[in-house]
Amino acid sequence: MLKPHGGTLVSRIVPEREKKIILEESHFYPSLEVDEEVLMDVENIATGVFSPLKGFMGSEDLLSVAHEMKLPDGAVWTIPVLLQMKEKPDIPTDGRVLLKDTKGMFRAVVDVKEVFRIDLRRIAGLVWGTESEAHPGVRHFYSKGEWAVGGDVWLLEEIEIPFREWILRPEDTRRIFEYRGWKRIVGFQTRNAPHRAHEYLQRLGLEMGDGLFINPILGWKKSDDFDSRIILRAYELLTNSYYPKGRVLLSGLATSMRYAGPREAVFHAIIRKNFGCTHFIVGRDHAGVGNFYDPYAAHRIFDNLPEDIGIEIVRVSAVFYCSICECMASDKSCGHSEENRIYVSMTGIRDMIRNGRVPPSNVIRPEVADLLIQSYGKTRVHVGE
Ligand code: ADX
Repeated sequence: MLKPHGGTLVSRIVPEREKKIILEESHFYPSLEVDEEVLMDVENIATGVFSPLKGFMGSEDLLSVAHEMKLPDGAVWTIPVLLQMKEKPDIPTDGRVLLKDTKGMFRAVVDVKEVFRIDLRRIAGLVWGTESEAHPGVRHFYSKGEWAVGGDVWLLEEIEIPFREWILRPEDTRRIFEYRGWKRIVGFQTRNAPHRAHEYLQRLGLEMGDGLFINPILGWKKSDDFDSRIILRAYELLTNSYYPKGRVLLSGLATSMRYAGPREAVFHAIIRKNFGCTHFIVGRDHAGVGNFYDPYAAHRIFDNLPEDIGIEIVRVSAVFYCSICECMASDKSCGHSEENRIYVSMTGIRDMIRNGRVPPSNVIRPEVADLLIQSYGKTRVHVGE
């Protein structure tokens, strides 16, 4: 089995007995109230999804990641993982702090090393390639605040999230892959319900590998993206009704979308390596938004990393429906001209649905379209009607 990033799977879950002691003594510790997004990433750190990270980044980590795309110890890392705060927290800058959720339940421990101010615009410029608030990921990053608490974390208690049953930890996925005898495992990232171009990429993965790991993002997304529950239902439908049993593993990833294009593609690949994948699919404009990134910057970035990240990147260019071939294809497999091609994008599908129209079945399966339409509360009207 492929080693996790950094060599070992991080595991930082407080043992039951210790948990009892910490909770009994909780009044001795300062505490911070944090949102679900922070707690999701605590869990990602503590269960090894973000290996080799052991905690939230300090200023040295942040600058190293932003400027050099690596952690100070040399491991490639492209996206900041920060415990951001709107105000300077009133806590000691070294020592133990408890994190509580918005209901006041203690969820995690942070061994604080540093409280520091983030130069938000500078970091956005380096990581997202823009300081513009028109970029939803940048806007979200700014909204979280300019103070940060750096330090290693320990998970006390998992948070309650509606799709908990969908989440597998790296130790689980690695065990499942081993049990199923999969050696070549192709990872697929998504923030969307599946359209036909996604399906084309997934079938490529199924051809190449012993198994396909479909891992939709369940954390924060921009408001016009589809709801995570609908996405999971759509994938359940696709995997149960169309893909061969036992060749796909579907599991949610509880972290936010950053919409950081190429940098996020690397982050996504490292995460899937930690889950045990040997290959990772990067299609057109991976993790992109609007026109902020060149659609193939997320392919090229893998050639310019400080070192090889040890997971094979399967680069696929734009997938479209060709009306002469009568199937999905890409430039590599179709020789017909542009006027015969229907390019598939979730933005186009979303716009049709918003206008009460059903996108054609060569763009998205009607059952999946139905789910999306229901989620918009629209009645069904066919294209052209
Ligand atoms: S993403 O933000 O997670 O990248 P999405 O869920 O739409 O968005 O994409 C999942 C994967 O499919 C990404 O690797 C993306 O590049 C790829 N992809 C989506 N649409 C297409 C398309 N029409 N052609 C090629 N690749 C695509």
